Amino acid sequence: MDFKRESPTRQGLIGSPARLTLKNDANSIGYNFVARVIPIHINSEVQVDLSKHAFFEGKIVPLSDARINIATHGFLYGTTVFSGMRAYWNEEKKRLFVFRPYDHYHRLLNSARMMAMDVPYDEESLIQLTLDLLRTDDWKTDVYLRPTIYKADMGIGVRLHDLRDEFSMFVMPFEKYVKNDANAHLTFSSWRRIDDNVIPARGKVSGSYANSALIKTDANRAGFDEAIVLDNNGHVSEGSAMNIFMVRDGVVVTPPSTDNILEGITRRSVIDLARNELGLQVVERSIDRTEVFIAEELFMTGTAAQIVAATKVDFRPIGKGTMGPITTQLRALFDDVVRAKVAKYSQWNVEV
Ligand SMILES: Cc1ncc(COP(=O)(O)O)c(C=O)c1O
Repeated sequence: MDFKRESPTRQGLIGSPARLTLKNDANSIGYNFVARVIPIHINSEVQVDLSKHAFFEGKIVPLSDARINIATHGFLYGTTVFSGMRAYWNEEKKRLFVFRPYDHYHRLLNSARMMAMDVPYDEESLIQLTLDLLRTDDWKTDVYLRPTIYKADMGIGVRLHDLRDEFSMFVMPFEKYVKNDANAHLTFSSWRRIDDNVIPARGKVSGSYANSALIKTDANRAGFDEAIVLDNNGHVSEGSAMNIFMVRDGVVVTPPSTDNILEGITRRSVIDLARNELGLQVVERSIDRTEVFIAEELFMTGTAAQIVAATKVDFRPIGKGTMGPITTQLRALFDDVVRAKVAKYSQWNVEV
């Protein structure tokens, strides 16, 4: 049997489809089928190195061995909760620091609680496990960590109860999530943010990321960098996977946790830094759509996104149409804090 593989026509997808052609000969049947190639090359946002390690089913294993069956409940029904954490490389200290792992694991365990999941770990044991995993591969660069708790039993049946739960985690190098993070052009999404009475909005539930993916793809395909999503009451909720802030009359304003936002850890950090280091007033209140157009500054926050300056929304310049002074200061300060360069906030940095 002679296999001829054509190059994938579309770059940038995990396991881009490659066409395998079976040549007609005496021993084979003449038909074409499409197979998936192993993800060795992916786009700049997603670089998973299968030679690294993962935590899977109670132990650290090569990432290439951390595989679930296609009949797994979490895969079939999105019954998975997760967090996205980062560890930052400090070049002067030559050390890696995980940013606020306690808070990430606290939120993860709360997400698990909402989804009737139970794992034999608490925040401290998850931090220890994280350090062990990072040390295994001796990472010396900025990395993204994806801890996940999922319904691990196999089979059909939509429910949360009477199913086994597992914890897993992998690590990958990670840089920019939004390319134009200094002058992003946003649009208002035609999609609405999931409502807390649909899927827990303050929980990080995998199934709800179908909503985020629709928001992101439609915005990107229309030529925008990101989108602002309204909730079912028509209030500004957040972005596809990041919280939102505006500056109006010098006051920093962000939607409250009751407006269907994910309770972001970057958001919480930025609120503290704006209040305590920049001496600004920060208010958590609902934001109307048109307020965004007349804001002096607008920015989005998230572990993947960091702090993204939005300088245009639906072709209207925000403020002067360039990154404003508050956003500029917060971005610089946040970068120093996450890299463990600010002693006052060292309790947020856990050294590997
Ligand atoms: C839907 C959504 N909103 C907001 C955020 C920002 O949260 P955090 O700052 O904890 O990363 C994220 C990212 O995790 C997200 O997925």
